Amino acid sequence: MRTQVGIIGAGPAGLLLSHILHLQGIESVVLERHSRDDVEAIIKAGVLEQGTIDLMNEIGAGERMMKEGFRHEGIVLRFDGRDERIDFPSLTGGKSVMIYAQHDVIKDLIKARLDSGGDIRFESKDVSVYDLDSTEPKIRYRDKEGVVHEITCDFIAGCDGTQGICRPSIPAGVLKVYERLYPFGWFGILCKAPTSSDELIYSMHERGFALVSTRSPDIQRMYFQCSPTEKIDDWPDERIWEEFRARLATKDGWAPKEGQIFSKTVIGMRSLVVEPMRYGRLFLAGDAAHVVPPTGAKGLNLAASDAQILARALAAHYQSKRSDLLDQYSDTALRRVWKATRFSWWMTSMLHTFPGADEFQHRLQLAELNYVTGSRAGSTTLAENYVGLPIE
Ligand code: APR
Ligand code: PHB
Repeated sequence: MRTQVGIIGAGPAGLLLSHILHLQGIESVVLERHSRDDVEAIIKAGVLEQGTIDLMNEIGAGERMMKEGFRHEGIVLRFDGRDERIDFPSLTGGKSVMIYAQHDVIKDLIKARLDSGGDIRFESKDVSVYDLDSTEPKIRYRDKEGVVHEITCDFIAGCDGTQGICRPSIPAGVLKVYERLYPFGWFGILCKAPTSSDELIYSMHERGFALVSTRSPDIQRMYFQCSPTEKIDDWPDERIWEEFRARLATKDGWAPKEGQIFSKTVIGMRSLVVEPMRYGRLFLAGDAAHVVPPTGAKGLNLAASDAQILARALAAHYQSKRSDLLDQYSDTALRRVWKATRFSWWMTSMLHTFPGADEFQHRLQLAELNYVTGSRAGSTTLAENYVGLPIE
């Protein structure tokens, strides 16, 4: 069979791309290795930038998000036993963020695609791509009955995340990989408890960073900095709460609301960018091309901006026979990717305790937090990056 754009991966990047293309009259097929139930169940962060909120609404997939999501107009930076708030709307011309879990975004996008006749092939196995540098790149896969199919495409979008097959299908030597590993991870919990704070709290403490986030009024998401090789079994619930109480303590005696912990995970932290985000007629988007540490909550939002930039370039190709935007795709996307990479690295560096760091380093971090929260210019830097920079 033939399609205009073959998309590998039904994560935020692939689904958004497919739906934006559909609204422009461009057809696509999405191949996803997991079942629908599985992709709708993966628990990931969910802080949507203003641009991502606007995009969901523009493409008609934002109704539930607007009803059930929580608009946050700021975050709290906690350090030196006190709280300083960064107010987004007053620093960014009215912008804010939405707390809405990634799996809910996925559910809404899958529904939007299927309701408008979209072609998503779940449980597609052994997906491979080839003839990437020809005008007819191809995808081969095995469906859930075991039958092998081939799809001839005009273009292929590699939206298959960090463990996908698209990036490794690009010949050796074409891509340059930029990577930074951080010497710590995050220990994340989900618990049944009421919200401890109206806004997310990013806490810098000598024992290490801690974050208070939320999923709903009765499910809370919290993290503390840990060793990348931390063992979950070493952390019974009471030890976890003790650590949170210590790292989140303020001079006014603040303590998190505790409840039954029903999920514990350790996540690694790294920054990775590959350049260029294109090889022949294969375009990479989202985590397939870059990974950020979770501190700035940028992963999902970068997937969304890549999808927007790529969709715009493909629309220019089909509607006006213009190839310039496709040729510029990688540079345009990478400008924003690197800014978000810088922001995530900066937030991570400012808020975490690095192994071996001395008192001097700690004082510098405190000075930076005092500067960022005490100066309008400093606060604006944080706020405008957090709510999302424009696509240039
Ligand atoms: N064949 C088919 N599908 C694949 C394959 C493959 N070989 N490999 C991976 N996939 C699918 C995955 O199952 C997943 O559903 O591609 C999808 C990739 O989705 P994500 O990993 O969510 O990546 P992306 O769409 O770029 O979104 C990035 O998601 O993982 C978070 O933190 C990340 O928030 C960021 C966002
Ligand atoms: C989350 O809720 O999982 C979350 C929120 C903010 C972050 C990272 C993760 O910066």
